[in-house]
Amino acid sequence: MADAALLDAAIGAAGRAYVPYSKFRVGAAVRAGGRVFTGCNVENASYGLTMCAERTAIFAAIAAGARRIEAIALACVDAGVDAGAAAGGASLMPCGACRQVMAEFADGALPVTIAGVGTVTLDTLLPNAFRLD
Ligand code: THU
Repeated sequence: MADAALLDAAIGAAGRAYVPYSKFRVGAAVRAGGRVFTGCNVENASYGLTMCAERTAIFAAIAAGARRIEAIALACVDAGVDAGAAAGGASLMPCGACRQVMAEFADGALPVTIAGVGTVTLDTLLPNAFRLD
C-alpha cells in the first residue's frame, strides 16, 4: 500500500475516534506483514487513560501477530487550518509516547506519513530512541 493509500486509511479511521472531551479526532494506519491495521484515539473521563490513535493501530497489529511495522500514517483531522508544515505543524505531529512505541517495532528508517506535513523517518522524529538490546 502506497503512502497515499495508507494515509487514506488513517483519515477514515479518524472518523471513528471517540473524543467527547477534546473533540480532536486522530486516525492512524499501520502496514505490517502485508496487512493494514487502523486505529483512532479513544478518550476516557479519567483523562490519563486516553489512548492515542497511533498506539491503537500499532497494538492492533501486534495483537494480530505482527512483530514489525513497515509504515505508519496518521491524520489529525481537527488540527487548525494554520497548523500545516509551514507553521511547524506541531498539532499534526505524533506525540512522544507514540514515537517511542513506534521504535519498539521498527528501526529508524520507518516511514511516518503525517497528514499536512509529509513523510519523514522515525529517526527524524525520535533521534537516539531508547532501546534495550
Ligand atoms: N492524540 C493522538 O491520538 N495522537 C497523538 O499523537 C497526539 C494526541 C490524541 C489524544 C487525545 O485524544 C487528543 O489527541 C488530544 O490530545
